[in-house]
Amino acid sequence: MDVVYTDDCVQALAPNLAARPFNMWRYRELLPIPQGAELPPLQTGGTPIYEAPRLAARLGASRVVLKDEGRGPSASLKDRPSAMAVMLAMASGAQRVVCASTGNAASSLAAHAASVGLPATIFVPKRAPEPKIAQLRVFGAEVFRVDADYDRTWDLCAEIAEEMPWFNRNCAVNPYLVEGKKTVGLELAEQLGDEMTDWVVLTVGDGCTIAGAVKGMEEAHAAGLIPFMPKVLGVQADGAAPLVEAANQGRAWRPGRAHTVADSISVGHARNPHKALQAVTRCNGAWVSVSDEEILAAIPQTALLSGVFAEPAAAAASAGLARAVKMGIVAPDQSASLIVSGNGLKDTGAALRAVGGPIDVAPTTDAVLKLLERV
Ligand SMILES: Cc1ncc(COP(=O)(O)O)c(C=O)c1O
Repeated sequence: MDVVYTDDCVQALAPNLAARPFNMWRYRELLPIPQGAELPPLQTGGTPIYEAPRLAARLGASRVVLKDEGRGPSASLKDRPSAMAVMLAMASGAQRVVCASTGNAASSLAAHAASVGLPATIFVPKRAPEPKIAQLRVFGAEVFRVDADYDRTWDLCAEIAEEMPWFNRNCAVNPYLVEGKKTVGLELAEQLGDEMTDWVVLTVGDGCTIAGAVKGMEEAHAAGLIPFMPKVLGVQADGAAPLVEAANQGRAWRPGRAHTVADSISVGHARNPHKALQAVTRCNGAWVSVSDEEILAAIPQTALLSGVFAEPAAAAASAGLARAVKMGIVAPDQSASLIVSGNGLKDTGAALRAVGGPIDVAPTTDAVLKLLERV
């Protein structure tokens, strides 16, 4: 169930914004912050947006804006819900936080927990990339790498959380965490204001992020921060696309397979399918899926044409926009914001698969010149 705010709270927001620091807590009228709660110290939210005209020309849209969520303290959008989780865990007196994650929810939770000295227990699936595991370990989390996919890992975590007096961060069972995710929508709306793009593109695994972002933009619209509600494009990978299939075939959602290079959205059993589908329907949005080849190609393309390095699940937003333009869903005279949900350093293996390695050379001038002649 969603947290709903009164009209008074919504209307109180805008006049207060000018005086506040640029981080996620600036939307506090619309956040579930208990009286006297301590906020975790890491700078969360306040990520930059960039106009990307060369990328827009390549993708076929009139204008493209990137919101670089890879600039969060643990380098993904998940820092927002994790900051919320740690704030609420501290307020409730919990002794430990727990979550299951494809990687980013986990690394962000570990970072924010470490920032306040709260122990964390994390369950990750076998295929979680090494850099994300490294983050967990350096932040001191107790990490269980489960010999299974994300879907089974999630169930296992839920079973353990039932047995223990821990604070469960999993968004689909903890409605307050979506309130953290929605701040990306509020923030994008505040940054773009009257220049809000026609479309906002988000990639989807469990569905919590897209539902949260839409809620944030709806609240921003109600608060007068944007003149209209943008359409939202939900993007999944071809190998893990149960929501795209349900929406585009006009049938009820059912779990499907999960196999894609984009580990963060490799989810067959979405935990928040209905909210995600409803959110996209409410704003007259659309769904597309993209192949692993398109996702991998989008990593260097986005980097080269904008300077932003995205992990596969974030680059998929760019691939999704290209696909939506080709399908006539997004018109060439329309604009789009891409939510770059995680930094490319999270999965350097995938990036190197896309671009190949460097040119190996002996440490002599001759050797370099010989190679340069070849070019
Ligand atoms: C980088 C990135 N993008 C997109 C998503 C999708 O979010 P959700 O699972 O809430 O749909 C995730 C989730 O882990 C993620 O880490």
